[in-house]
Amino acid sequence: MLGILSSIGFLDDPADIFIFLGRLHPLVVHLPIGFLFLAALAQLASTKPKFQAITPFISYVWALGALSAFFAVVFGYFLSLSGDYEPDTLFWHKWMGVGVLLFSIACYYITKKTTKPFLYTKWFFTGLVTVSVFITGHLGGNLTHGSTYLLEYAPNTIRGLAGMPPKVEPRKKVTELDSADVFLDLISPMLDSKCTSCHNAGKKKGKLKLTTYNEILKGGEGGEVVIPGDALNSELFKRISLPEDHDDFMPSEGKRPLTDNEVKLIEWWIKVGAPPDGYFTQLNPEKEVIAMAENFFGLDRENQLYGRTVVAPDKVVVDSLRSRGFVLNRLMKDNYFMGANFSLSERKLELSDVELLVQLKEQLIWLDISNSNVQDAHLEKIGQLENLVRLDVSGNAITDAGLNHLVGLKNLESLNLFDTDISDGALIAIPKLKALQKVYLWQTKISPEGISKLRKEHSDLKIVSERE
Ligand code: HEC
Repeated sequence: MLGILSSIGFLDDPADIFIFLGRLHPLVVHLPIGFLFLAALAQLASTKPKFQAITPFISYVWALGALSAFFAVVFGYFLSLSGDYEPDTLFWHKWMGVGVLLFSIACYYITKKTTKPFLYTKWFFTGLVTVSVFITGHLGGNLTHGSTYLLEYAPNTIRGLAGMPPKVEPRKKVTELDSADVFLDLISPMLDSKCTSCHNAGKKKGKLKLTTYNEILKGGEGGEVVIPGDALNSELFKRISLPEDHDDFMPSEGKRPLTDNEVKLIEWWIKVGAPPDGYFTQLNPEKEVIAMAENFFGLDRENQLYGRTVVAPDKVVVDSLRSRGFVLNRLMKDNYFMGANFSLSERKLELSDVELLVQLKEQLIWLDISNSNVQDAHLEKIGQLENLVRLDVSGNAITDAGLNHLVGLKNLESLNLFDTDISDGALIAIPKLKALQKVYLWQTKISPEGISKLRKEHSDLKIVSERE
């Protein structure tokens, strides 16, 4: 006997079986709602001669409603044992639920006897059931979603009637970093999307609300969760930086976690004293923190380039480039970014070829014009291909003057200058390429000192100056 009890979890504390049944409550409650409204409706309909025939069936619908209400009440009671629900709302939800059960049992008994004296009582109880189902359901919704959920997006007139303040204007999308507020635009939206479903006024898991700055600082069951200036001892930071399979990891229950970037930004925010407001950039964030914030707001270069949709290239231009010896490829399935390779052509590059390329400047992100007799004059036009991420001009007699035409290529990550006449003038041009990650300078006229200077001043730039 004990074995059976323990195998279904009866001896745990609280018994797993109760928690399991409790979590069925949100599912089961829809049955009495359906049955009881149907019963009321059928009863109303049966007053018309056309539907009089259904009268004997009505008491059975009330019975189904009462039976399912019974299960909803019992499972709901189990759920209330395991959750941290707002006690006042819970009290009313619970007893209104019991009311629904009792009133629907009354309706069942009354409708079984169809004698006249019961007529008014019947409608009286039907009214009670209908109203109490509404109220119970509404309170239940408040318990799970928070009391502001229903009217969050309601027009202000309706919110006013319910005694709520007008809607808070949603924050404008951050389009430049300088206008971003450190709490309202950065930290709060992270918590809103990943945490407040469990940590709000109605559902205060761990007795913690994460909906406003003051609530966050107030902390939860275990006291403060954010200690300004001390991320490592802040419970909130600890919980989000644990391994995902750890019991204490937040968000719990396998909900979508914060990204690494978001975790680091929260860590930074706590370290700089968890300010409640103020411009992000005025807190003097380090370079990496700025990069993370730009990524969060979708303002980083990568997002701006690849995130946008480019239109299909002009087919006439594509065809004529192909007939001139260019190999053109579409590089992404869901976008029209293209790569062009002229290095295999027997022809020399001409200015008219480059003019055609400029017509693809939206789409073109890779370009290989190595060993193609490229001149400095060509580079003036190549410098207009602003989406270029990769450019290979190796094996051409180009000089520093030509390179200077390329400094506006703000997306350029890789530049191949191998076997060109580039010299120390490149030391000024290359650092202007803000996105550059890799540059090939092997067999150029740059002095060894020039190369080591570039290395020293731009340690994050990969410089290839010998055979790889
Ligand atoms: C699916 C529901 C759920 C989500 C989502 C969730 N939490 Fe929790 N949280 C809980 C529960 C349940 C507890 C109480 C049990 C415990 O302490 O582990 C808790 C407790 C906490 C505590 C400890 C409070 C105290 O004082 O003891 C912190 C801090 C916390 N959560 C932070 C977060 C953060 C930050 C997020 C978002 C990244 C988050 N939670 C998302 C359910 C959730």
